Amino acid sequence: MRRITVQDRLVWVTGASLGIGRAVVVELVRRGARVIASARNELALNELARECGGDRVVVLPLDVTNRQATLQAAHTIRQQFGYLDIAFLNAGICEYVDVATFDSSIFERTMQTNFLSVVYGVEAMLPLLRAGRHPQLVGMSSTVAYRGLPRAEAYGASKAAIKHLLESLDLDLLKDGISVSVVCPGFVKTPLTDRNDFPMPFRIEAHEAARRIVDGIEARNPEIHFPKRFSLLLKLLSLLPHCLYIRACARMVHSS
Ligand SMILES: NC(=O)c1ccc[n+]([C@@H]2O[C@H](COP(=O)([O-])OP(=O)(O)OC[C@H]3O[C@@H](n4cnc5c(N)ncnc54)[C@H](OP(=O)(O)O)[C@@H]3O)[C@@H](O)[C@H]2O)c1
Repeated sequence: MRRITVQDRLVWVTGASLGIGRAVVVELVRRGARVIASARNELALNELARECGGDRVVVLPLDVTNRQATLQAAHTIRQQFGYLDIAFLNAGICEYVDVATFDSSIFERTMQTNFLSVVYGVEAMLPLLRAGRHPQLVGMSSTVAYRGLPRAEAYGASKAAIKHLLESLDLDLLKDGISVSVVCPGFVKTPLTDRNDFPMPFRIEAHEAARRIVDGIEARNPEIHFPKRFSLLLKLLSLLPHCLYIRACARMVHSS
């Protein structure tokens, strides 16, 4: 597919107050894009807009779990700009499951924040993308979506759901000229992974992740996965027959 730079394109980024989303906004602005930045923390978004300088970042506070608020955000974008070129649905949380105290509320929170927020974002932004130039829909999944991993019952299910949703949309939006990408990072150093209490092989910095994501968006890659030595290893592992896969995972858990 033809490479199209982000220069002068209008991009909506959710989860822009921290971590990967924040770094992606900085990288987009560095490459000349105009960004609408959303998250709940308005102070952090204002600080980001100041840091990016000029008028390249418009702050649009939003709780992505709220469907009505997401539709209202789209209405605001329509009034101010009338279109959108790229939607990067990135906001998310991560909670691990302890099977000894299996708690369905973790699943409710995780699916609402990670998966349903993407559904609301698609519903709200598709009409704006249809009015955009070379429109792109980009969603944040994870390498955890490739196959079951320990304690990832809720987080992994939400990311696998996002991946499936986006792959299906890619087929259905072909006729509308909207290209769809799913982002599958390995470990990235952010406040989200700073809470992890286990080894995180090949963890990269947020600015490095942002560079790879924006490269992938410009190349219109259907799947943007990195760091390659980790994502390709997990892809390979996911091809193993069930009994070998379970054994390999058990060994990984045991050695960590
Ligand atoms: N870090 C990794 O290793 C890694 C790997 C694979 C995938 N991911 C995915 O990448 C995305 C970003 O992760 P991160 O590591 O950058 O996490 P992070 O540092 O914790 O940042 C999460 C972002 O999501 C926003 N957010 C959370 N709940 C929200 C809500 N209800 N409404 C609006 N915004 C909300 C937060 O903003 P507010 O709190 O201000 O609302 C924040 O900007 C997530 O979807 C995560 O699952 C991360």
